[in-house]
Amino acid sequence: MCGIIGYVGSKKAAPVLLKGLERLEYRGYDSSGIAVADGEKIEVIKSIGKINELVKKASGSNMPCGQIGIGHTRWATHGVPSDINSHPHLSEDGAFAIVHNGIIENYAELKAELISRGVHFASDTDSEVIAQLLQDNYDGDIISTLRAVAKRLVGSYAVGIVTVYDPDALYAIRKDNPLVVGVGKNENFIASDFAAALEHTHNFVQLENGETARLSSHSVTFYDSDGNNIQKTPYRVDWDIESAEKSGYPHFMLKEIYEQPRAITDTVRPRIKGENGDKIVLDKIEFTDVNVNRIERIDIVGCGSAYHAGIVGKSFIEKYCRIRVNCELASEYVYSDPITDNRTLTIIISQSGETADTLAALRLAKKLGSHTIAVVNVVESAIAREADDVLYTHAGPEIAVATTKGYTTQVAALYLIGLKIAKIKHTISDARYLEVLKEIAALPKKIEAVLKNTDAIESYAKQYAKHKCVFFIGRGTDYAASLEGALKLKEISYIHAEAYAAGELKHGTISLIEDGTITLALVTQSALYLKMLSNIKAVQSRGGTVLAIASKLNEKIGEASDGLLVIPDCDDDVSPVITAVVLQLFAYYVAKERGCDIDKPRNLAKSVTVE
Ligand code: F6R
Repeated sequence: MCGIIGYVGSKKAAPVLLKGLERLEYRGYDSSGIAVADGEKIEVIKSIGKINELVKKASGSNMPCGQIGIGHTRWATHGVPSDINSHPHLSEDGAFAIVHNGIIENYAELKAELISRGVHFASDTDSEVIAQLLQDNYDGDIISTLRAVAKRLVGSYAVGIVTVYDPDALYAIRKDNPLVVGVGKNENFIASDFAAALEHTHNFVQLENGETARLSSHSVTFYDSDGNNIQKTPYRVDWDIESAEKSGYPHFMLKEIYEQPRAITDTVRPRIKGENGDKIVLDKIEFTDVNVNRIERIDIVGCGSAYHAGIVGKSFIEKYCRIRVNCELASEYVYSDPITDNRTLTIIISQSGETADTLAALRLAKKLGSHTIAVVNVVESAIAREADDVLYTHAGPEIAVATTKGYTTQVAALYLIGLKIAKIKHTISDARYLEVLKEIAALPKKIEAVLKNTDAIESYAKQYAKHKCVFFIGRGTDYAASLEGALKLKEISYIHAEAYAAGELKHGTISLIEDGTITLALVTQSALYLKMLSNIKAVQSRGGTVLAIASKLNEKIGEASDGLLVIPDCDDDVSPVITAVVLQLFAYYVAKERGCDIDKPRNLAKSVTVE
């Protein structure tokens, strides 16, 4: 999704903006641009393509000198990717420049109205109407002009603005699209996420819906939607800049795969308390006999990998809590007239905490009376702030578009929630509770073991990298893990990949298996070993090639397969976290072999803030 950075301070704005835009590259974009104000005029430089194209255009004698500016990475929605359609957009009179994330739904109507009054538009974008409306509504006071314009806009927006009418400041407004204000020393920032400004400050303020911010080098002033001055206190973001850098790894994705032992430790360890290490404390979430026994149903809602984490969580929670769990895609949940009430617990999962579909689902669940718990990575994100309770995953910044540590920490968090509820409901024996808790705490060590020896994974990946289609099969939680494995492969390597419940193949899909079709078979559920064995045989007898990924206990499946990867010994119930790491690495090496842009796969964005 598009990214925003804005700077005001004592340095030249352009280099700060360009660096900030590089930090936002991971969100996915097709063009970029900056606007710099120098006290008299606003200079705009834009370019289609990668940021280095913009850097080339804005360097040397072409570098603007002003100390106030805004920058943007665009992911085209309205109007093709082009220099003209990229942001910033200038008002026709050159007095306002804006960058915009989100969608202005009534832009066509507004544009027609402005054109009828003689305004000329330069681009095909919805965003340009904001700049033209600012010119059209300017009344001598920027705050009141911004309020007047905001009232006309239908849709979602985070907007950064510079204007010749206030050469010492930059402005920001927002509705339903994230924007943070970074508070520095003699310099201040706006950004669509922390990563863009983290090397300059760790102190941030969230701009809320309807609020406006005016930033000068020495102060930040906030206004509510009526234009009243309001006080807001910055919070600290402890993520360090190294965690948003590659630190020697060739790709962010690989670095983030390797960070999983640390990420899961940080997600799990601080929540295991008590003298004997047998108590789960989930931050401020109050799980009492009364509120737990009231839960008749659990809905887990998320998108993409977060949804897949929910499917893994569903089988774990149903098994141990004996509560019916319904896992829903957020984009479907919102329009499905969901059956929910105050006896339903809704767990909302989102790494970014800003996914528009998931946010809409959260709002609906709350409106219908359900208690909501958000499992979120990004601190103070919209979903974290709006949910009744939040359990942070502590994965740290995730930069690669394809999630890895975001996903496994979500699964680990769901395990903790499940075990906690089961313990209160007495639906798990004390002995099993301790056993599973120990297994969850041991996950980081087991992942380390996988990461120490990746040669076999890489070698199978190279061998299979030329194939056009790969199937992933499994039963029970192995099926849930297969869904994520297939998504990882398709999104970064562009190989068509499908996950199937192994027993379902024979009901239609097996007709696609022919000589050499690759199938990855997950075999970690001991009780289902024999069933998997028959499914593997069925694939092979149609000419398919099977690579089994099995736990130690089930490794003899290798005798019946064409290849075998053995994961460290682990409890069947937590194996999806370990197989996830193997499948992430498999997808990574396949994509690398195929020469794909691993961290920024085509057509994808990191944070999907439009529905
Ligand atoms: C896949 C991936 C996406 C996200 C999905 C939800 O690798 O990253 O499928 O999982 O867009 O994003 P969040 O978790 O930020 O709500």
